[in-house]
Amino acid sequence: MSKLFEPTQVGDLTLKNHIVMAPLTRNRSPGAVPNDLNVEYYRQRATAGLIITEATAITHQGQGYADVPGLYSKEAIAGWKRVTDAVHEQGGKIVVQMWHVGRISHDTLQPNGGKPVSSTNKVAKSKTYLVNPDGSGAFAPTSEPRALETAEIAGIVEDYRKAARAAIEAGFDGVEIHAANGYLIDQFLRSGINDRTDQYGGSIENRARFLFQVVDAITEEIGARRTGIRISPVTPANDSADTDPQPIFTYVVEGLAKYDLSYIHIIEGATGGDRNYQQGEKPFDYKALRTAYEKAGGKASWMVNNGYDRQMAIDVVESGEADLVAFGKPFISNPDLVQRLKDNAPLAGLDQATLYGGGSTGYVDYPALEKAA
Ligand SMILES: Cc1cc2nc3c(=O)[nH]c(=O)nc-3n(C[C@H](O)[C@H](O)[C@H](O)COP(=O)(O)O)c2cc1C
Repeated sequence: MSKLFEPTQVGDLTLKNHIVMAPLTRNRSPGAVPNDLNVEYYRQRATAGLIITEATAITHQGQGYADVPGLYSKEAIAGWKRVTDAVHEQGGKIVVQMWHVGRISHDTLQPNGGKPVSSTNKVAKSKTYLVNPDGSGAFAPTSEPRALETAEIAGIVEDYRKAARAAIEAGFDGVEIHAANGYLIDQFLRSGINDRTDQYGGSIENRARFLFQVVDAITEEIGARRTGIRISPVTPANDSADTDPQPIFTYVVEGLAKYDLSYIHIIEGATGGDRNYQQGEKPFDYKALRTAYEKAGGKASWMVNNGYDRQMAIDVVESGEADLVAFGKPFISNPDLVQRLKDNAPLAGLDQATLYGGGSTGYVDYPALEKAA
């Protein structure tokens, strides 16, 4: 039996195996409150070593798509408690992905119909997903954002802190900070988005400042060993652009090495697309990224994602190149994915042409996926 299927330790958690369910937005929580459908869906997938929930808004302002769950109301915390209880009853482990979408939102989803906030005033060339009054769904262009005032940023960091506390109240085993895929934290990191002239823009140190303030707040609140983070160094998702991603992500992981985090989660390539996708002149060196992290004293588990199949996952864990492999799309149509991988059984519902839209589009084609599943 491959090491992939054996138990492993991540932070303070003992996982049944090295297989992680990647965060997957499902738009099934009207009112931002998890319901029976969410309970059943996560219960069915509790054989994963670790479940990372779908991205979950830390505040109403952090909300960017119709019917995604939140972590900012009593009702949402109670709804999530039913989910975490169900997963724990099955012997599973579950962390929540903490999300602020920044500019990937729409006025109609914002408190009082206001503008979404970001590191910039520039509109993202991207789309969000809305539900019409008649219940049908539709993509819509993201709205024009408002660049955050410098003095407002500390308030958003506090929102992360509160949401981390709420996550523990809801029974989660920990949290994953969503710093990937062109959402708010990534909107600060990227030279192609962040056009600020204050201490949050310009140099690498300045662009990473918000990320580290969020990590500080969350780890102070709930402990570093219950905190993981997801980054996507080269993805073009949600209009993310950076002419030279290696130096800033090296700086980020070297800084993260100073915390005793549970895991670092890396999306390799374009999220949901080409694993060799490149931003800037050189291919991104993921091995060098891990080496930089470890040289700086980092000890967290190293989680990889994007387009992994069974053999790739076995190989990467056996070789020690990664400690954990996160599977996204395969978990949607295969709740019993772990057993299928163990048995080397065929996977259901994975039509690569449909899933990837024939190539890297820069954002995930959610309805096509729903149809395929
Ligand atoms: C339907 C769908 C929803 C997704 N939602 C999220 C999300 O909420 N948060 C996130 O970080 N990534 C999200 N992703 C990206 C996946 O976590 C993952 O990175 C991607 O699917 C590539 O992994 P895979 O090849 O194993 O599917 C989503 C992907 C899909 C297909």
